[in-house]
Amino acid sequence: MWKPAEKIKFETHPGAWPTAEDAGRSLLFSPISHKALSLSSRTWIPAMVPWRATDDGFVTQDNIDWYARFAQGRPGAVVVEATGIRDVPSGPLLRIGHERFVPGLRDLAGAVKAASDGETRVYIQIIDFLGIRRRPAADKFFERFLRVTDRHRAALGAADWTEAEVRAALAAKPADELATILTPRELQDLTMGFRERVTDTHVPHIAELPAVLPGLFADAAVRAREAGFDGVELHYAHAYTMASFLSATNTRTDGYGGSLENRLKLPREVYAAVRRAVGDDFAVGCRYLADECIEGGNTAGDAPAIGLALAGDGMDFVSLSRGGKFDDAKQPKVGEAVYPYTGRSGYECMPGYISDVVGPFGRNVPATAAVRAALRASGIETPVVVAGGMHGYEQAEGVLRDGKADIVGFARQALADPDWFLKVRTGQGGAVRLCEYTNYCEGLDQKHKQVTCQLWDREQLDEPGMAKALDGKRRLVAPAWKRG
Ligand SMILES: Cc1cc2nc3c(=O)[nH]c(=O)nc-3n(C[C@H](O)[C@H](O)[C@H](O)COP(=O)(O)O)c2cc1C
Ligand code: SF4
Repeated sequence: MWKPAEKIKFETHPGAWPTAEDAGRSLLFSPISHKALSLSSRTWIPAMVPWRATDDGFVTQDNIDWYARFAQGRPGAVVVEATGIRDVPSGPLLRIGHERFVPGLRDLAGAVKAASDGETRVYIQIIDFLGIRRRPAADKFFERFLRVTDRHRAALGAADWTEAEVRAALAAKPADELATILTPRELQDLTMGFRERVTDTHVPHIAELPAVLPGLFADAAVRAREAGFDGVELHYAHAYTMASFLSATNTRTDGYGGSLENRLKLPREVYAAVRRAVGDDFAVGCRYLADECIEGGNTAGDAPAIGLALAGDGMDFVSLSRGGKFDDAKQPKVGEAVYPYTGRSGYECMPGYISDVVGPFGRNVPATAAVRAALRASGIETPVVVAGGMHGYEQAEGVLRDGKADIVGFARQALADPDWFLKVRTGQGGAVRLCEYTNYCEGLDQKHKQVTCQLWDREQLDEPGMAKALDGKRRLVAPAWKRG
């Protein structure tokens, strides 16, 4: 992963833990309700893909065990990983694009309720993403993938060459010459792998996204409701379709790009369709970026206006993430696909312990606070969820007391210790296993391997009935908390 040049090492510093009485009086462990959102505490586990679905996108027992383990710690809410809204093959990522996925999802939602005695709310993050291919070997790219155009022929002086001759000539050119012959996009396809963009409006299925996506999201939300979830989180963040519509880099000219008003159009239409389909008593919110952290992208200055529009339309919550874009991702190796968490924006999304002067803890708080302040100034009470390096009680309680957010998201900290919530609430914070922000888990995610935490995945490997990763060396869920 990309690291800031300063390379300052940070240690997790949770500060003091509360007694059970103090926790009982805290904001963090007090309920929050807004419209269809109703949580027993202001704690939240944001979506994390654990790579446990079947290759056809069905829920597995490992998925169920993963979420049930989080629910045992009794957070206010857990958001199930990004789940695809289309009925198309997409590898071992959960899908909700057809009725056949509902029974498995129902088991998953039911397992969260059962493991928390009904205390933890379970939401599901629903996502659309565009096509992406692995980086091709150069010879294959010129042989098969490149579409030969007049531009190539003109550059080579090859007006009457056969296509095969043009391909062979291009394949033999050095990189610096290719940079002048290929279009920037062709060069990207060669060096990074082909990837669809929302601006590819010459491609019919991309042009049609605004017509198609509201219905797909709405159908997915109806299935989520049927499956027993308490709500959906529309994935408008990171590197995926909806975030790309929102992005300042979206230059579509069909009314869905350009000005912020136009870029907001599809996210608002998707929300309206979802709301119409599920009614008012089912929580519908979204996750979007408080800052895209890329050149030419939305900044923290744009985030309040986006929040005002989305929350103003009636969303039950908005959850703020940051970064995680393809735009600044590292070049993948030949045969691998570009991964949107390898550049600076990726660092901003999942900041590691090697950091800059700001450090990895609460980096997203100021930008999130600005969104919340804008909402409140307009009389909009929509709860705002913050995430990024949150791990300590004083840190979380301080953010809430200072009115910087309404709900605190703990992703990697919950992965390191799913019992964080129960331990802290019952005055046993000293027993918390603290995340070290090493990003070992994120490295597994990048390799599409079953995600675990290095702090517990080699513990008690002889426990009877315990599920192990495919490599046979790691346990898949955190060991049970042995209360002192
Ligand atoms: C393994 C892993 C998978 C993730 N998957 C998702 C995802 O499916 N959707 C999403 O919005 N964020 C995803 N994230 C980002 C987290 O939700 C969170 O925003 C990020 O890790 C920063 O919060 P933290 O510092 O509390 O971990 C993932 C993070 C990790 C570590
Ligand atoms: S592997 Fe564990 S300790 Fe390291 S960042 Fe992930 S959750 Fe934290």
